[in-house]
Amino acid sequence: MERKDQTQPAETNVISEYGKTLMVHVDTSPGQKILDLGCGTGDLTAVLAANGADVLGIDNSAEMIVKARYSHPELMFAEIDALELPYDEEFDTVFSNSVFHWIPDVDHLLAEIRRALKPGGKLVCEFGAASNIATMRQAFAAASARHGREYRERFYCPTPDEFFDRLKAARFEPERVLEFDRQTPLPGGADGLRHWVCRFLKSDLEPFSASVQEQILTEVETACRPLLWNGSEFIVDYRRLRAVAFKR
Ligand code: BEZ
Repeated sequence: MERKDQTQPAETNVISEYGKTLMVHVDTSPGQKILDLGCGTGDLTAVLAANGADVLGIDNSAEMIVKARYSHPELMFAEIDALELPYDEEFDTVFSNSVFHWIPDVDHLLAEIRRALKPGGKLVCEFGAASNIATMRQAFAAASARHGREYRERFYCPTPDEFFDRLKAARFEPERVLEFDRQTPLPGGADGLRHWVCRFLKSDLEPFSASVQEQILTEVETACRPLLWNGSEFIVDYRRLRAVAFKR
């Protein structure tokens, strides 16, 4: 079992581009059955399928599945909740990029994945690690508190040790669980940070009036600028956790 810090080279700002570096852990040869859990637009599903593996992309967003089917009509996609996988020992590999941090009930998620895997099957996943986007989260929590509302953390971003223990408890044998920084430029230049907050912390912003929302966005930008602004774009402190584990 490998557990260490690792800094990755700078890459472009596309989730799927980052996800490609995770592919090295997946056997994509013909005959392999792969589940792409949380496939989004299906771009990584297509990469997983390029060598002839039998790949199914699933996502709980109907909108994403429509996009994936439109972009990759030759591939199989289904609208399915990761916490309700209708599979029993069907897949050689479950692959998941940038999804686990959205699912706080990780024990349930791992139990579903375990059931979907064949005996000895492999889980390959990457998602937010502890301290992921810490600067923005802390700035948002402080601004929210100043305006009378406590920010409740919704993302599941564990340390490698915590996730290792969860894998063991779910009867996986971890081969590697490691974390690394992934400095990530936000698209949108000077507005990039507020776009991110409006998109991903939408439900935390919504309880405030429009004018307070605007104040919060400005306060978050002001707090983050000294650390994240490089003169032309915000570079956000993403931290990733990458794990490879086998079903016991
Ligand atoms: C991420 O780490 O990819 C992420 C975390 C929270 C919201 C959106 C994305």
